[in-house]
Formats: sequence, C-alpha cells, structure tokens
Amino acid sequence: MNIHKVVIPVAGWGTRSLPATKNIPKEMLPVYNKPGVQYVVEEAIQAGIEDVVFITNRDKSAIEDHFDYNLQLEMVLERSGKEEALAAIRQVAEMVRIISIRQKRQLGLGHAVLCAKDVVRYDDAFAVMVGDDLMFGMSPGIRQLIEVAQSERLPVIGVMEVPQDRVSRYGIISGEEISPGIYQVRKLVEKPRVDQAPSRLAIIGRYVLTPEIFVHLEKISPGHGGEIQLTDALQGQASARGLLAVKIRGMRFDAGDWAEYLTANIYFALQDEELREDLVRRLKPLLG
Ligand code: UTP
Repeated sequence: MNIHKVVIPVAGWGTRSLPATKNIPKEMLPVYNKPGVQYVVEEAIQAGIEDVVFITNRDKSAIEDHFDYNLQLEMVLERSGKEEALAAIRQVAEMVRIISIRQKRQLGLGHAVLCAKDVVRYDDAFAVMVGDDLMFGMSPGIRQLIEVAQSERLPVIGVMEVPQDRVSRYGIISGEEISPGIYQVRKLVEKPRVDQAPSRLAIIGRYVLTPEIFVHLEKISPGHGGEIQLTDALQGQASARGLLAVKIRGMRFDAGDWAEYLTANIYFALQDEELREDLVRRLKPLLG
C-alpha cells in the first residue's frame, strides 16, 4: 500500500476561535513561532508523504502562500544579511508540493474529503490530517497509522482515550481490541450524549483511507449539525470491508480550543532552550 499524498482540510469557518479568525485562517494562528498548520505538514513529511492536498476556501490563500516562495522578503533578508531567517523561510517554501482544491460550500469534514476525490482516486491509499489538530510524540501520529494500514491492508483511523465528560465533542468508536492498541471498529457515533457514548475512544484528526471511502461519502445524507460527516461514511466502511482504529501514542492539541491552543504554545516555547528559563520565570507569578 503506497501512500504519497495527504489531504488536509482547512476550509472550515473556525467559529470557535473568533474574533481571532475573522480574517486570519485558524490554521495560520501561530503556535510558538510557526503557524499551526506547519506542524501538521511537518508530521506528514516525517512519515514520508510528498504531496499535500489542501481543501481550502476563498479566504485561506495565506496557507498556500506560506508554503510558497516570497521573493521580495527573501531579497530584503538577503540584503540585510539575515541568513538564518532567510534559510528558515526558504525551507518552508521547499517543504512539499501543494495541490489546492476549493470547497465552495462548507458542508462538513466528509464533504471536504470528498472534494479530493479526483486527485487521490487512483492511489492505493491516502492520509487525511485535520489542519488544526496538532500531534507530537516519539513517532509521528500519522506514521503510526500508516504502519498498521500497510501491514493489515485496511483503512485505519487514529483514536485517543478522552475523559467521559468530553465524549460529546468527538466521534466515538466501539469495537474489539485485536492486538494491543489496535481495534476492529464496529460502531462510530458522531458527538454522542455523555450517557450514550459506546466508549471513551475518540476519533482524532488522523486517518489513512482508501478510495473506497468515496463510495460511502457519496451515499450518506447530512448527519450531525446538518453536515456531511466523515464519521458516517466511516461507519459504511467499517460495515462493508472493515476499518481499524489505532490508539495513537503522543500528545495532541486541538488548536480550535483556546485552552489547548494556549497550552500548545507554552509547550513549544518550553522546548526552546533560549526561551525556557525566561518564560518559566514570567509564568510562575501568574500561576500564583
Ligand atoms: P472543525 O469543526 O474543527 O473546524 O472541523 P471549523 O468548522 O473550522 O471550526 P469551528 O468548529 O467553527 O470553530 C475540522 C476540520 O475540518 C475542516 C476545518 O477547517 C477543520 O480543519 N473543515 C470543516 C472543512 O475543511 N470543511 C468543512 O466544511 C468543515
């Protein structure tokens, strides 16, 4: 199973992050010194992915521009001898090949994935990574899924255990654990009520799918919130040919949630040796 492309949907409105996202894409909000979406793209690269398919809308061109050259800025940095900054911005431009697809109406995550059909339909499989879900650990989250998808020859979704009072924010799965941390998925429910969730295993923004998913996406009607839900199409996949879930090891931050977004900022800033001491000194009195 060869996996060369990742679909990164970034076309949502980002209403939870207003007013910050009135004119700036949510995925471009900085997490320490990089836009959040750059961490997602870097995770894909670490897993050997070469092409990024952004599902965008008319207000998101800043994302494509970020992964392109900015010749004017390069000239300014070159003239002023700012070699380090110059290397950093060139490196981002050279990171990946970009394919952009417009999602003209924001009909949900499932619909966003369906927009990529013509670009990935002849691939064995492709990755989907949600543009505002940041993940860190020893092994890149998406690579953990690719390894299982390649050995089992089945589509795989990433899950993490969440506290009971948070299940209604996620798609929740149930199924049998067939080997440690790997589940044969039976049921998927989008944002269940706390008392109706079949487990605490929440679907997070990492998937390895096969073109078969388009058959299911084309069949389903709008679900939770009137949107075309990827979770509903995954139920079709689980019932037809089968679907696995892998409990991803590592840390995860939803950049669309302020507490998690701000924690991610502090986490990354603390990894920078030059900043760490000063930051801790300034944070301590704030924590009381
Ligand atoms: P979210 O529900 O987290 O994102 O969708 P949102 O709609 O942008 O944010 P809120 O809830 O209004 O704050 C998960 C991912 O799916 C993308 C979003 O950009 C986000 O990365 N998405 C969602 C689309 O690309 N198209 C859609 O129609 C909906």
